[in-house]
Amino acid sequence: MLQIIDGKAISAQIKDEVKKQVEKCKADGRSVCLAVVQVGDDPASSIYVRNKKKACEYTGIESVSCQLPGDAAQEELLQLVDRLNRDPEVNGILVQFPLPPQIDEDAVIRAISPEKDVDGFHPENVGKLCVGEEGLISCTPAGVMEMLKRSGISVEGKECVVVGRSNHVGKPMGLLLLQENGTVTFAHSRTKDLREITKKADILVAAMGKPRFITSEYVKEGAVVIDIGIHRSPDNKLCGDVDFEDVKDKAAAITPVPGGVGLMTVAMLMSNCVKAAMKQEV
Ligand code: GUN
Repeated sequence: MLQIIDGKAISAQIKDEVKKQVEKCKADGRSVCLAVVQVGDDPASSIYVRNKKKACEYTGIESVSCQLPGDAAQEELLQLVDRLNRDPEVNGILVQFPLPPQIDEDAVIRAISPEKDVDGFHPENVGKLCVGEEGLISCTPAGVMEMLKRSGISVEGKECVVVGRSNHVGKPMGLLLLQENGTVTFAHSRTKDLREITKKADILVAAMGKPRFITSEYVKEGAVVIDIGIHRSPDNKLCGDVDFEDVKDKAAAITPVPGGVGLMTVAMLMSNCVKAAMKQEV
């Protein structure tokens, strides 16, 4: 029987847990506040930002919106980040990506105080993840780990293949699976015989950003298939990096798109905000 890993239910559960934690913080006289920074008005980014603010409302996290024009200079954004870093009322800072071409995303990531880096993108937080120290972890891979855990899927001793090696998703994903004692392989655009590698996976994570790329030929019978991609197909439907219809009869468990990993990213962002706020209080 195919297990469809329900991102909607799991993310709702996490947001409810966060809501309780925020209530407890408030009862102790502390609030939790996220600053959401958007540069320009890219429509896709506006939707993401709106969803993040909605999740803040639901969980009781205060959100402060900071909007800069699309032609803002890098220095202007860095000054804003600096102001938010020093603002004791702000616990988390999220700068929505992608940024316009005149701004160096890496410089912005490094400018955010690691204690307020709720995206978990700062090299200090990535380094902590690498050496197994507690820090803020990138939301999408952290969300995948919660999906596995809450679906009763153990990583221990499993062959895990992560296709994609981005700093924000693929690399932290592999590190988290390794932390749970998976045997991890990173595959990427230069990998030879990709199919031979993915077919060995007990847990296959598709994070390469190619619509419906992973077909049943890439999947071992009975594998757990996690789809991190999100694309709009020519017929205007949302789809992932996995060809769901083709893979569903071969996999033992799969995350759908929509309704899978995407919802987890926002839930884990909320969770990171509370984590950051609690750490800052100590
Ligand atoms: N743009 C798309 N996904 C993300 C994300 O997780 N964080 C940020 N900051 N920008 C994004």
